[in-house]
Parts: sequence; structure tokens; C-alpha cells
Amino acid sequence: MLRIIMLGPPGAGKGTQAKRMAQKFGIPHISTGDMLRAAVREGTPLGLKAQEYMNAGGLVPDDVIIGLVRERLAQKDCEKGFLLDGFPRTVAQAEAVDEAGIAIDHVIELAVPDDDVVVRLTGRRICPNCGALYHVTLSPPKQAGVCDKCGTALITRDDDKEETVRNRLRVYHQSTAPLVAFYEAKGLLRRVDATGSVDDVFKGILDITGEA
Ligand code: AP5
Repeated sequence: MLRIIMLGPPGAGKGTQAKRMAQKFGIPHISTGDMLRAAVREGTPLGLKAQEYMNAGGLVPDDVIIGLVRERLAQKDCEKGFLLDGFPRTVAQAEAVDEAGIAIDHVIELAVPDDDVVVRLTGRRICPNCGALYHVTLSPPKQAGVCDKCGTALITRDDDKEETVRNRLRVYHQSTAPLVAFYEAKGLLRRVDATGSVDDVFKGILDITGEA
């Protein structure tokens, strides 16, 4: 049983590392951002409500997100553990985890300076078909604009425009960064320098979780 929370600013590499960790640990990767983007694509009532907040780089209201995650964690594949990416993001969300009686093993904070975040996010490209992640200069696909894994044309996320990225960073420092102290006080926080290569960061995570 391994229950992990990934914490860190937008663009810290939470999704990149979570995909690897989920495969290595055999637990589901639960990304609230991915769940919301799927709802937006499908045009569900949740998606229609969330889209406005996401496009502005703000946070979707706590009650909406807490309900969504509660339903997801009740599914059978979470019985042997899970990896939460993008949740909790406010103290109210973290308190909801405690109130649900969920015991977390590790809160892994990926630490990256704001300037690096802007470079990473404005250059990020995503495969809309298989979810593979690229960066135009830091981890480019073999053929520009095309997914190495499935050949689909890559896209840029709507909230990766520089102005929106800067707002997401402001929201992170205001609403999510307080969770560092919240989990430090509980003895659960493990900080990883996430400025190194994807492999080095992954190694740092495995050292912390003792799963190397
Ligand atoms: P969400 O999708 O969670 O976005 P985020 O937290 O801003 O994180 P990102 O997905 O942008 O970055 P990441 O840390 O996963 O980095 P990645 O691995 O992609 O949320 C989006 C929106 O949904 C929010 O703004 C909010 O509106 C809403 N939302 C979601 N959850 C919510 C919640 N709980 N409450 C309320 N609202 C919520 O990497 C980024 C780039 O860097 C990639 O190009 C990658 O290739 C590159 N890269 C990664 N690692 C490295 C490395 N080590 N070296 C060089 N490049 C790297």
C-alpha cells in the first residue's frame, strides 16, 4: 500500500514523474487536471463549470474538486494505493483528505524556481491521443510537432500561455504553497530538487520512497 501526494508549482514535473512512478509502483496516477480537462472535452456540466477557472489559471472551487476526488478514490483500483497529482491544492482540500481518514505515506514536493516554470510550460507540448509529454527544446519529439509514440499531432494546453502561467504561479504561491508547512508539520513532506534531468529527479524520488 503506497499513498502519495505530489506537490509543487505548475510545471514542476508532477505529471512527468507521476506517470513513471505509477508504472514502477503499480498504482493509479490520479491527476485532477487531467480529469478536469477530460470533462471540458466531453462538455459535461463539471467541464462547463471548470473551464472558465482553468483558462484564467485560477482554481476550481474546493467542493467541486473534493467531490470528484472522493468518487475516484472509492474505485477499486485505489485499494492498493494511489498517486495524487494536483490534489490537494488548498488547505481545505488537504483537510478533506484528513477528514476522510486517508493516511498518506509521502508528500513529495518538487521544487523548481518560477523562471524555470515559465520556460517549461510555455514550451510544453502534449499528445492529445496518448498523453505523452514533450518540450520544444528540453525534451523534443523526434519529428517536430508529432508524437513519437503514436504519430498524433501535438497540441499546446490553453493555460500554457505566458500570461496565464504567471497567474497560475501567483495562485500557487497564495493557495497551494501553504501546504508545504501543513505537511511538514505532520512529518510527511519530502522535498526533491526538480531542476535536474527527468531521470535525476526520478532517482531522487525513488531514494525518498525507498522503492529503488
Ligand atoms: P494541472 O493539470 O494539475 O496543472 P499544474 O499543477 O499547473 O501542473 P502542470 O500539469 O502544468 O505541470 P506539471 O507539474 O505536471 O509538469 P509536467 O510534468 O507537465 O491543473 C490545471 C488546472 O486545473 C489548474 O490551473 C486549476 O484550474 C485546475 N485544477 C486542477 N486540480 C485542481 C484542484 N485540486 N483544485 C482546484 N483546481 C484544480 O512538465 C511541464 C513541462 O516541463 C513539460 O514540457 C515537461 O516535458 C517538462 N519537464 C518536466 N520535468 C522536467 C525536467 N526535469 N527537466 C526539464 N523539463 C522537464
